Amino acid sequence: MTPSRGKYTVEDFLAAFGADAGDRDLIAAEAGAYDFSYSRLSQTERDAVILGILERLDSFTQVGAGRAGIWESAWSDVAKRYADSGDDLASLDPPFMGATPVLRLGGDYARPDMAAFETHWFRVLRRWLLNKYLVGARRVCEFGCGSGFNLVTLAQMSPATELVGLDWSQSVVDLMNRIGRGHGFNLTGRRFDFFNPDPDFAFGGATDVAMTFCALEQTGDRFGTFVDWLMARKPGLVVSMEPALEHYDNSTLFDHLAVRYHTGRKYLNGYYTRIQELEAADQAEILVRRRLGFGSLYHEGYSLLIWRPK
Ligand SMILES: C[S@@+](CC[C@H](N)C(=O)[O-])C[C@H]1O[C@@H](n2cnc3c(N)ncnc32)[C@H](O)[C@@H]1O
Repeated sequence: MTPSRGKYTVEDFLAAFGADAGDRDLIAAEAGAYDFSYSRLSQTERDAVILGILERLDSFTQVGAGRAGIWESAWSDVAKRYADSGDDLASLDPPFMGATPVLRLGGDYARPDMAAFETHWFRVLRRWLLNKYLVGARRVCEFGCGSGFNLVTLAQMSPATELVGLDWSQSVVDLMNRIGRGHGFNLTGRRFDFFNPDPDFAFGGATDVAMTFCALEQTGDRFGTFVDWLMARKPGLVVSMEPALEHYDNSTLFDHLAVRYHTGRKYLNGYYTRIQELEAADQAEILVRRRLGFGSLYHEGYSLLIWRPK
């Protein structure tokens, strides 16, 4: 049997994001630039993909406090690439996105026609998310900002917003300052460690927004120190795009494989539940908690939790 063909449409984006019809034009404008065609897998291909995942599951490194040096070296390479490129913003796109030829899409595996499917899908999500929750904010702080490519997009969409890129890597801090200076963005860098949040960083109150994109995932079950730090400072909004163990249904093979990958790597464990507990205790308000049904071969890094401390 020939594997079925599909195309991820604007309607699919609206449904995945839980966006309303008023967001259609913005999503269509970004999505229209890309080809979102894909094929579903034949039974034989799907079996081979699953077998490949099972064979690799035990070979991945674990995240956590021990990886500071590894991140430092990765980001110093990116900073060098940026300088060598003549400060080309395109050089900031992280290499870990779109690295697998098969993706998780709408509850099953799919093989996209274009290798950049994941990068393009994320660009549509990011434009919608930034436009809806962050454009126009007085100050946005991205914690664990990496190459800063999300902040660069926000700087272009909302030039008056003060942007701070925080990370435990000094190379990232220097890179944010260089990007801000070189491109005239309202962007600076600052050192920050999720495990030891800086008590002197003047952050919080209604006009500050915190953002974490695939960054808190790195703390495993040690996210609590950062949540306590946020709760004490009460920013106006916290926008997190982080993988959520809580969203998988471990009784299906498709999700079980993602659970095995997520727990094997010791990714974020309990953040979504913790914020729900805070909401139940009337200490936080959750605006969005959503699985978007999209991910790389191994898991779904694109879940949303948008909330604020009360
Ligand atoms: C997967 S990258 C994501 C980077 C960026 N947010 C993005 O979307 O591309 C994870 C980031 O978290 C940072 N990170 C990991 N552990 C951290 C910690 N304990 N404190 C601060 N940053 C941390 C890493 O240096 C890296 O920049």
